[in-house]
Amino acid sequence: MNDHDQTDRSPTTPTRGLILGIETSCDETAAAVVARGSDVLSSVVSSQVDLHARFGGVVPEIASRAHLELLVPVVAQAMVEAGVASNDLDAVAVTHGPGLIGALLVGLSGAKGLALGWGLPLVGVNHLEAHLYAAQLEHGEVLLPQMVLLVSGGHTQLVLVDAPGEYLLIGGTLDDAAGEAFDKVARFLGLGYPGGPAIEAAATSGDPTAIDFPRAMANSGFDFSFSGLKTAVINHVRRHREVATDDVAASFQAAVVDVLALKLARAAAEHAVAGVALAGGVAANSPLRERVASDAARAGLQCLVPGREYCTDNAAMVAAAGWYRLVSDGPSGLELPAVPGLRLG
Ligand code: KG4
Ligand code: ZN
Repeated sequence: MNDHDQTDRSPTTPTRGLILGIETSCDETAAAVVARGSDVLSSVVSSQVDLHARFGGVVPEIASRAHLELLVPVVAQAMVEAGVASNDLDAVAVTHGPGLIGALLVGLSGAKGLALGWGLPLVGVNHLEAHLYAAQLEHGEVLLPQMVLLVSGGHTQLVLVDAPGEYLLIGGTLDDAAGEAFDKVARFLGLGYPGGPAIEAAATSGDPTAIDFPRAMANSGFDFSFSGLKTAVINHVRRHREVATDDVAASFQAAVVDVLALKLARAAAEHAVAGVALAGGVAANSPLRERVASDAARAGLQCLVPGREYCTDNAAMVAAAGWYRLVSDGPSGLELPAVPGLRLG
């Protein structure tokens, strides 16, 4: 019998716990090898940013085609960098949603082919859950319950983690996601794409107190709204043509960070959690990282902030989440579908 025959494997007894993770939900083609959900042996991310930049955002059809070209070399590089062969692996984990349907299908089809060809279990991973596992890649013990602020290009959520794999959505955005707000404001200011890093760079030479932009719903509830802030930026710049772009970027960033940090701190206090964590691309933002860390220290809470490379989309977080799903639920079937609107919990 083949060493890796699916019928030969109990979900609770993987050997070295080596998982190949594959991520293609948006515009990063990524593959990684991670041992037992925390030890990163390799993490390769091929960004398509240059392909999409001239359009000011991700073009789904271009993303799918690029994933198709990049997937095999990216997986091969991840395996070589990790120094592993297919028969060292315990499973192939892949993002199956949420994301762009065409982009998801490329990674999912590739992962199924590899799992079938190599006789390995396939594990479907929720991209949002993967972001939640990113903080665990470099940290040891995670104190629960934990309140996670998940802020990416497509999502802005406060998630209460009571136990591993148990998520309760405390709040979400009513309109734009935080990353989307960064991207739209950066485009309006002519700062380029993706907007988050561009705004952060411009803000370093700006005054965050120059313009008092609104902090929507900062002191009420746990939902977010960023579209009013975006409109306030546009109106301010149209009325004050002479305003320094760096000051607008810094003041906008300060407003976003303020709202995110205030709500995270209030949600943490109200739910009496032991720790807080940041996840998602916007968690790469330095002022947000610093503010959340200092608020948590003042409140005596554990604070997990992933390394920047594990905030934005990557496959190490997919492999980590895949390991935990494999151990708790066992493998997914090869009929696993791509689910563009997949939710957490
Ligand atoms: O998690 P991610 O890589 O992809 C999604 O799943 O959406 O997040 C991408 C988002 C983009 O909107 C990008 O502008 C934002 O994260 N982002 C940042 C920073 N780096 C990336 N936002 C603020 N500051 C940053 N340094
Ligand atoms: Zn993401």
